[in-house]
Amino acid sequence: MKEIIQVELKTRKVDLSKCRTDILAVGLFSDVPKLDSVNSMLNDKLGGAIERLLKTGDFKAKERANAIIYGNEKIGAKRVMLVGLGEKQKATLDTIRKATASAAKKAVDMKAKTLSFALHNALDKRFDLSSVGQVYAEGTYYGSYRYDEFITESEDGRLNLLQVEQCYGRTIANRPGNIIYPEKIAEEARELARKSKNLTCTVFDEKQLIAKGMGGIMAVGSGSIHRPVFIVLKNKTTAKKASSLPTIAIVGKAITFDSGGISIKPSANMDEMKFDKSGGIAILATMKAVSELDLPLNVCGLIPSAENLPSGSSYRPGDIVTTFSGKTVEVQNTDAEGRMILCDALAYAAKQKCDIIIDIATLTGACMVALGKYMAGLMGNDDELIKQLQKASEESGEKVWAMPSGDEYAEEMKSKIADLKNIGSRWGGACTAAAFLRQFIGKAKWAHLDMAGVDMVNSPVDYAAEGSAGFGVRLLTTYLTNIANKK
Ligand code: BES
Ligand code: MN
Ligand code: ZN
Repeated sequence: MKEIIQVELKTRKVDLSKCRTDILAVGLFSDVPKLDSVNSMLNDKLGGAIERLLKTGDFKAKERANAIIYGNEKIGAKRVMLVGLGEKQKATLDTIRKATASAAKKAVDMKAKTLSFALHNALDKRFDLSSVGQVYAEGTYYGSYRYDEFITESEDGRLNLLQVEQCYGRTIANRPGNIIYPEKIAEEARELARKSKNLTCTVFDEKQLIAKGMGGIMAVGSGSIHRPVFIVLKNKTTAKKASSLPTIAIVGKAITFDSGGISIKPSANMDEMKFDKSGGIAILATMKAVSELDLPLNVCGLIPSAENLPSGSSYRPGDIVTTFSGKTVEVQNTDAEGRMILCDALAYAAKQKCDIIIDIATLTGACMVALGKYMAGLMGNDDELIKQLQKASEESGEKVWAMPSGDEYAEEMKSKIADLKNIGSRWGGACTAAAFLRQFIGKAKWAHLDMAGVDMVNSPVDYAAEGSAGFGVRLLTTYLTNIANKK
């Protein structure tokens, strides 16, 4: 039997010495040798154990490092976890978020049932308690998550089926290509709309894609038995405020598996291309958040989805595809498929007269070469929108870095035999890809997030399990919340 454990959060006002919990997590800075009030109280009750530990040098309070001290009859907690916060002046809310995540990850490994956080005491009220509460919640969900849907044999030291509802997006993103394919994503979207009061879902199937002239999505999906879809989720609010706010489309690439197609990828690490749907799943999860937060905003979540496989019916290098906008594209590489499906979705958003269009995609290996695995590329045509996304990025801890996508790059995407071609020169691949997308947004304000590289954790790190990182959900939700809260 699998043990099913649900993560649940509560806030309490307690005397920390009496706090009954499996683990009480307290914060320490690497450059503050004197114990703060809480730590010094615990140290006294534990007969100097914290001081003794620090003296050994085993724990230096580096960011996300932690150490366990066992409790005694004088305190309510079974264990005290010292959590490193690094240098005091450098600490931000993200420091607490990551520290919380590493503590939660360790607590799950230890099979602790309750974990209580009092890290904020170390910060002397630098941040307001509600912000701290939010990062505690985010960090806990982030760090305690394991993807173990398909584990049938329990190993020691782990919990099976730890259910973290808030990691909805990560679980779907972690599902491999044999389990989840375009029609399954559509099912998830329908289910989401069914359960929520203000979301509606429309799915265009193959027939409708053909009828609408969505040639980009059709071309990419043509090689797989799993048929492509285009999912339209709408958050319809009755709030009066919404009419004075912009209508926003968020668009995500959902390639359920990217083999490269006829321009097939090398086999090493090809399995990671099951994560090529991460942008689309980020949209699904963001729409869930928008509806649960009941944001007074009209948001349209668009998810073009296909599987990119080589077969006798695949699209080929050399093909000329007529896209939804009417623009024709010469396919020079079937592995540049993300832009082929996104261009239909972006043109659809433009046709719906959305004021702002933001897309998110695991679009180019070149973006990963440029920025590594730490931040997503951010391109766009509107300085204010870029600034708002940078602000949301700082607040959410999901990092972005601005990159260009202007005329020089667009020039490379011109074809001799069609309006556009789907690849540029060898250099600046993230920028040329964005310059391609830019052609399809009409007059809307637009931003593009290239999340290749940041969408997954390759090997487990101290604050997250391996697999989908769920990137983009917090960033987009923070951005949308900020827009909704504008007076
Ligand atoms: N899904 C890939 C991009 C990618 C690569 C994401 C590595 C995550 C990790 C995308 O569809 C792709 O294959 N892009 C090509 C574009 C090229 C053919 C112009 C790439 O980056 O090589
Ligand atoms: Mn590809
Ligand atoms: Zn791809």
